[in-house]
Amino acid sequence: MLKTVVMVSGGGTNLQAIIDAIKNGVIKDTEISAVISNNENAYALERAKNAGISAECISPKSYSDRAAFNKALLEGVLKYEPDLVVLAGFLVVIPPEMIKALPNKIINIHPSLIPAFCGEGYYGLHVHEGVLERGTKITGATVHFVDEGTDTGPIILQKAVEVHDNDTPKTLQQRVMEEAEWKILPMAIDLIAHDRVVIEGNKASVI
Ligand code: GAR
Repeated sequence: MLKTVVMVSGGGTNLQAIIDAIKNGVIKDTEISAVISNNENAYALERAKNAGISAECISPKSYSDRAAFNKALLEGVLKYEPDLVVLAGFLVVIPPEMIKALPNKIINIHPSLIPAFCGEGYYGLHVHEGVLERGTKITGATVHFVDEGTDTGPIILQKAVEVHDNDTPKTLQQRVMEEAEWKILPMAIDLIAHDRVVIEGNKASVI
């Protein structure tokens, strides 16, 4: 059984996609041990509670400085002894100590085709604003392992999505979620649960 901890900051539609995929058998041999949010008002916490999953908030506001928050976050995750940590719309930079403690055991969903529209400043709606400003015709989503850089780790899965002429950042965000994110994130978790993702250097392959 793959034990996962899912980390969230907001609405939690990707978390919901994982919960539903476990329920309907798209993801097998996997459980969510806990959901952790940095934001006490994240609706994702309600989604976890509704699904009977233990949910907690570890907020930077409760700590005197970033180092203390990072330490609490790391301890909060490690106490569940996860095989995999899933960043499902977690908009906090992962502390290097966590990456060292969980090498190749943290994955992230990003709402673009990396290496386009990723890195510092590109998160949430900003990604889709960037895509529309550039006039890009194709965008998509990427699931990747998390390393010390921002959105630089080995890519596991990607899915392309068309940009429409009349898109707003919100309509594009919704289409990228529906057509790509909610599909490839559960798929990647199932592949990892069945030892089907191999990493060599900065490349991940599905076997
Ligand atoms: C998703 O679009 C996710 O890809 C993005 O935040 C949104 C969270 O939505 N993540 C990033 O931008 C990470 N750099 P959700 O809370 O409804 O899953």
